[in-house]
Amino acid sequence: MQQAEQAAGALLPEYHRATPECPHPEHWSMYDSMTAEYEVLEFLRTLVTTLKPDLVVETGSFLGVSTQWIAEGLERNGFGRVVSCEYDPVVFAKAQEKIAASPLRGRIELRNESSLEMDVHGTIDLLFSDSDMPVREQEVMRFLPQMNPHGLILMHDASSHLKVVREAALSLERKGLLSVLLLPTPRGLVIAQPKQ
Ligand SMILES: C[S@@+](CC[C@H](N)C(=O)[O-])C[C@H]1O[C@@H](n2cnc3c(N)ncnc32)[C@H](O)[C@@H]1O
Repeated sequence: MQQAEQAAGALLPEYHRATPECPHPEHWSMYDSMTAEYEVLEFLRTLVTTLKPDLVVETGSFLGVSTQWIAEGLERNGFGRVVSCEYDPVVFAKAQEKIAASPLRGRIELRNESSLEMDVHGTIDLLFSDSDMPVREQEVMRFLPQMNPHGLILMHDASSHLKVVREAALSLERKGLLSVLLLPTPRGLVIAQPKQ
């Protein structure tokens, strides 16, 4: 949070380490090391305008930056909402303050809950999994029965260096639950779809 406050919205070169699949992370930008890469935020917004989801679920709000990029896409579509959870009460309070001041607040439902306990009603068209890395497999398994079979699941932090999320996605694929693509971004991004 301190890093985000110090940067005050300025973009920095991405500084996660180079990986075989992404040897030049410095070609990407970031606000801080917790918030998704700037290009991934742009991609999220574009996915929302491309897929026209009614319901987006995000795990790991942090300061609500990715939540607001998703909401921006929804606002352009003219419908839909994003439900995002953040389990840390201090971080949640900060995110809540920012969302309350945002013109996009009508599209956003922020919850101070764990992704492993949050109940969301309805069919999920887009799931953005960006919480604690070791719980991602469990988290995706939890929301999978509610996924639109034509919907998309994005799992952030899936680089070969960070390993755990990449392995979680590949394990879900081996179990026959997901079809998985590994995007070679600095922190890694999985795009997956439920296997019918
Ligand atoms: C990488 S940050 C999320 C960044 C945010 N999605 C963005 O790009 O702007 C991860 C956040 O998830 C929260 N978190 C970790 N495990 C969680 C869980 N199981 N449920 C909800 N939030 C969680 C952490 O406190 C942290 O703020």
